[in-house]
Amino acid sequence: MRGAHWGLLALLARIVAAENGLDGWLRYAPLPDSLLAQASPLPAVIVALNTTSSATGSSPVAIAAKELQVGIKGMLGRQLNISTESPIFRINSTQSSIIVGTIAAYSAKYGSLNASSLIKDGFWLSVKGSRVTILGQNERGALYGAFDYLSRIAQGDFSDVDHVSNPSAPIRWANEWNNLDGSIERGYAGPSIFFSNGLIVKNLTRVSQYARLLASIGINGIIVNNVNANASLLTDENIQGLGRLADTFRPYGVQVGISLNFASPQLLGGLATFDPLDASVIAWWADKTKRLYQRVPDLAGYLVKANSEGQPGPLTYNRTLADGANLFARAVQPYGGIVMFRAFVYNHHADWNDWKFDRANAAVEFFKDLDGLFLDNVVVQIKYGPIDFQVREPASPLFANIPKTNVAIELQVSQEYLGHQDHLVYIAPLWKTILDFDMRVESKPSLVRDIVSGQYFNRKLGGYAGVVNVGTNTTWLGSHLAMSNLYAYGKLAWDPTQDSQTLLQEWIRLTLGHDQAVLQTITKISMESWPAYENYTGNLGIQTLTDILYTHFGPNPASQDNNGWGQWTRADGKTIGMDRTVGNGTGFTGQYPSELAAKYEEIETTPEELLLWFHHVNYTTRLRSTGKTVIQHFYDAHYAGAATAQTFVSEWESLRGQIDSERFEHMLFRLKFQAGHSIVWRDAVNGFYYNLSGIPDELGRVGNHPYRIEAESMKLNGYAPVAVIPSETASNFTGIVITSTNGRGEAATTLDVPLGRYDIAFNYFDVIGGRAHYGAFLNDKPLLEWIGDLEDKLGHAFSTKLDGHSATRITFEGVEITRGDVLKIIGLADGIELAPLDYVSVLPVGIVD
Ligand SMILES: *[C@@H]1O[C@H](CO)[C@@H](O)[C@H](O)[C@H]1NC(C)=O
Ligand SMILES: *[C@@H]1O[C@H](CO)[C@@H](O)[C@H](O)[C@H]1NC(C)=O
Ligand SMILES: *[C@@H]1O[C@H](CO)[C@@H](O)[C@H](O)[C@H]1NC(C)=O
Ligand SMILES: *[C@@H]1O[C@H](CO)[C@@H](O)[C@H](O)[C@H]1NC(C)=O
Ligand SMILES: *[C@@H]1O[C@H](CO)[C@@H](O)[C@H](O)[C@H]1NC(C)=O
Ligand SMILES: *[C@@H]1O[C@H](CO)[C@@H](O)[C@H](O)[C@H]1NC(C)=O
Ligand SMILES: *[C@@H]1O[C@H](CO)[C@@H](O)[C@H](O)[C@H]1NC(C)=O
Ligand SMILES: *[C@@H]1O[C@H](CO)[C@@H](O)[C@H](O)[C@H]1NC(C)=O
Ligand SMILES: *[C@@H]1O[C@H](CO)[C@@H](O)[C@H](O)[C@H]1NC(C)=O
Ligand SMILES: *[C@@H]1O[C@H](CO)[C@@H](O)[C@H](O)[C@H]1NC(C)=O
Ligand SMILES: *[C@@H]1O[C@H](CO)[C@@H](O)[C@H](O)[C@H]1NC(C)=O
Ligand SMILES: *[C@@H]1O[C@H](CO)[C@@H](O)[C@H](O)[C@H]1NC(C)=O
Repeated sequence: MRGAHWGLLALLARIVAAENGLDGWLRYAPLPDSLLAQASPLPAVIVALNTTSSATGSSPVAIAAKELQVGIKGMLGRQLNISTESPIFRINSTQSSIIVGTIAAYSAKYGSLNASSLIKDGFWLSVKGSRVTILGQNERGALYGAFDYLSRIAQGDFSDVDHVSNPSAPIRWANEWNNLDGSIERGYAGPSIFFSNGLIVKNLTRVSQYARLLASIGINGIIVNNVNANASLLTDENIQGLGRLADTFRPYGVQVGISLNFASPQLLGGLATFDPLDASVIAWWADKTKRLYQRVPDLAGYLVKANSEGQPGPLTYNRTLADGANLFARAVQPYGGIVMFRAFVYNHHADWNDWKFDRANAAVEFFKDLDGLFLDNVVVQIKYGPIDFQVREPASPLFANIPKTNVAIELQVSQEYLGHQDHLVYIAPLWKTILDFDMRVESKPSLVRDIVSGQYFNRKLGGYAGVVNVGTNTTWLGSHLAMSNLYAYGKLAWDPTQDSQTLLQEWIRLTLGHDQAVLQTITKISMESWPAYENYTGNLGIQTLTDILYTHFGPNPASQDNNGWGQWTRADGKTIGMDRTVGNGTGFTGQYPSELAAKYEEIETTPEELLLWFHHVNYTTRLRSTGKTVIQHFYDAHYAGAATAQTFVSEWESLRGQIDSERFEHMLFRLKFQAGHSIVWRDAVNGFYYNLSGIPDELGRVGNHPYRIEAESMKLNGYAPVAVIPSETASNFTGIVITSTNGRGEAATTLDVPLGRYDIAFNYFDVIGGRAHYGAFLNDKPLLEWIGDLEDKLGHAFSTKLDGHSATRITFEGVEITRGDVLKIIGLADGIELAPLDYVSVLPVGIVD
């Protein structure tokens, strides 16, 4: 009776429990009965070795024991006691138990163990029925092993194992671009969990929860502040605050580090200079570093963005970047700290008329000659591609050019150029194109992942920096599904040979349970998401055609060119693409080892997905693979990508009832937004190149939208047409806005369609600065009401203007309409949001346009 009662409750809990995402993939949800039935006999007790000397009881091993206890209780419903091996409670190593601790502590208790195969942070997991042994090379490793064991249980894997796991690289860090005022650069999930009002926040609960997530995927370091760093982080008060942050991360094995502002000695210290070779500057940094290490003895080190995008650096004083990096390396060296020095150094005032200039060349130009000059505790942190987190880039040639320097790869979990977490884009497959890439150094296999691990060039240090940018939103990244990217990042940093779909499916089981339909559907849409996004944003290596001068969100292909930023496409009326050849272009291909240089030099041997990255071609140049022209490929890919994004909505809707309603509705809203915005992208990019080239779409789609009624062609009252900039982000280049602040407007049209059911799509602009109201009426009967409040619903805002960022769509499905019906939209402006509208599409069911 009692059992049945509990079973029922558990079942109910499984179906209805709303989930806000806070626990990420560490939910420890009750296992379904079908899997419970396969569970092997449970261990009787958890034995935590070597926690006793920890005064606070919050060492990684103690955390591991607690996680095991909470996890087993949650998933299997059994409360296990934790023994810390007091003399009166002796457990021997063959009894039913989970023993967790370090190899050293185990050997001291139970006799020595052969652990020669474990390296720093590694662990050994042994499961033999109800006898489980989890031993770390260090405490952190023991915690990783505990998470690994819990993950197996959560995925219903109860098999015996004897498994040694070592990290691929010593550096597995998160970078958080958080500002002291609490804002986050390229963060899309609310304000900082670390800072507010210039100080470290008082309540560190969220920090502790984040530390737990990071530890569970093997992340061992975190840079808590923006690379565009504020010198005020180094005040005495903030050093105390950093101490509290480090105390919070430490039990999870995550070491805190900070970004530095190179000019701090001047900005904060009041010195006349920040010349890295000046004695007073050196002394200033030594003193600051000492104070930091006094409060945070295990400070991971410093991250430095110097002489980049307006940041100060050693070049200001005609010193080399190595002089700059070594200044900090010497300061942290006595304490065991390291310096991550970003390779993202380039001139953003470049001359766009110079055919031979190339921002992509900058990293090798700046760093190649410095190879061998960096101290041993400097790591050069290199973005995966030569430009900046684009939807597709070739691997940065710098990986092959500085064999005597430690390097790390910088990946971006935060979707700066990939839809700001409002578009579903599972990024691991993109990262894998780089990590698995063979640089052919000296014509030998030399994978990027083996170079960044330090293995290939036999470097002591190396690894991963992932720009994450979590915020206070309980979803962490703003979107539940975006968390698969954080999961995959940590797992790939640990073992980059893993398959991106396998990691995704692990994450799905842990995060959303064991339902097969859930697994299949989310696998399908996630695996299609990057190819679809590439299709509707930027093809053939042209980069993400977003607005590089404003927020990096919606389409604005023109913004790439004719400015100093160097993300050029060189598109004109006949041709497109950057000529990066040695023969007639920027010479970038020559930065690769000879085999690759030769391959990229010729159009014929350049991989098609990078054609426009390396070559300047005619729109009419035909692709080897399909025989299509470049321009027709653009048109087709944009249509295909947007069509794929529409299917995400129906695929997700098929899971209604299989996922708790909180997460279900949250994602449904986002996927609908993405479906609408993908059409904005499609039409803007296609329209742009059609206008530029004058070459029509062979299939007659581009610029031809028979189902659309332009708002400017409706009968307007209180509304007036307005030119939208960039023009291609509005249908017919024109939208309408209400003519007075807080005014009211009407737009009406008589529908000329045969009797039938239609989906009506309203394309409008949702700008920051107001929450306009819209009401749609059919023959004066209310049809649909909505508010321009995406800034609330998506949790971040994009633009104050009518453009490709604010352009969006809402669809009302299955409306019965007959010829002569009058469709009217009434808008109520709110502040600067003048209830802007672009067009209405009256779509026979099944058609999307
Ligand atoms: C646990 O053992 C490791 C050595 O394996 C040691 O470094 C660490 O300080 C110990 N921790 C505690 C809390 O005793
Ligand atoms: C667990 O600990 C509690 C309280 O310390 C004790 O009453 C109980 O007997 C223990 N259970 C087992 C199985 O050892
Ligand atoms: C460990 O404990 C079990 C059960 O109490 C016992 O049978 C076994 O002999 C013990 N082994 C050692 C090495 O003490
Ligand atoms: C430990 O095992 C490794 C192989 O995994 C072996 O090479 C080594 O000799 C062993 N060491 C000891 C002390 O048994
Ligand atoms: C740096 O932080 C301080 C304290 O919050 C703030 O007053 C100052 O404006 C910030 N400086 C910059 C350049 O953002
Ligand atoms: C600290 O933050 C947590 C989670 O955000 C919250 O639940 C808790 O109430 C806060 N504690 C205090 C003392 O404000
Ligand atoms: C750096 O060198 C340039 C050219 O050699 C010179 O014009 C400039 O004054 C120097 N700057 C400093 C700060 O020494
Ligand atoms: C999280 O963001 C969503 C929008 O995505 C918003 O509706 C919700 O209120 C936010 N929650 C918190 C706790 O900030
Ligand atoms: C070679 O470069 C020039 C610019 O220096 C450019 O105008 C021309 O189109 C290029 N030729 C080819 C074949 O790409
Ligand atoms: C582009 O077209 C011109 C003629 O308009 C031709 O001379 C040139 O070879 C073409 N370039 C490529 C790469 O096909
Ligand atoms: C991307 O576009 C290509 C070319 O039209 C098409 O073959 C492919 O199926 C599309 N993929 C997705 C996921 O949209
Ligand atoms: C397109 O916009 C112009 C004003 O920019 C307007 O004159 C014209 O009627 C519009 N075309 C349609 C089809 O609405």
